[in-house]
Amino acid sequence: MLKKAVFPGSFNPFHLGHLDILRRAARVFEQVIVAVYENPSKPLLFTVEERIELVRETVKDAQISNVQVASFRGLTVDYLKSVEAYVMIRGLRVFSDFEFEFRMALANQRLAPEIEIVNFMTGEQYIHISSTTVREIASLGGDVSSMVPPNVEAALRRRFADKTSLSTDM
Ligand code: PNS
Repeated sequence: MLKKAVFPGSFNPFHLGHLDILRRAARVFEQVIVAVYENPSKPLLFTVEERIELVRETVKDAQISNVQVASFRGLTVDYLKSVEAYVMIRGLRVFSDFEFEFRMALANQRLAPEIEIVNFMTGEQYIHISSTTVREIASLGGDVSSMVPPNVEAALRRRFADKTSLSTDM
């Protein structure tokens, strides 16, 4: 087995497509760190602490033992170096992901040539899932139970219930 890899992302929120990529990576690497990107200049639907907790619960429920969850700020390649990991995992769904991922891989290669980017292909049942789609459907009261783990579904329901009650209060 290969040693250590980092799976970075916004995970806003973590969905079944992410979990599929994580399972695949955890079968190939001894240790996988899910690294939740904290972008201080951009408030997201879930705080970094909430996103970490949702990923931790999901990993525990899925019984994947060789996974840790952490957060990072700044450049992803700097985070990898700080934990002495030299493989970055990214998922690929549809062909249109490729251009974005390829560009990001080239930028990261330029920044840190010692780091390899490894792309895992998602299972076909998850091709349509993205965090953006999940957020939009959940915000409109739609059913996302086939797209996210149960703990994430519950968190989305609570978050949008909060938002609705806030907006009707105003
Ligand atoms: O889940 P996402 O939103 O597709 O993840 C994107 C992420 C967080 C991996 C990417 O935006 C990133 O690496 N951000 C950290 C800043 C950085 O290193 N930028 C240079 C890479 S182009």
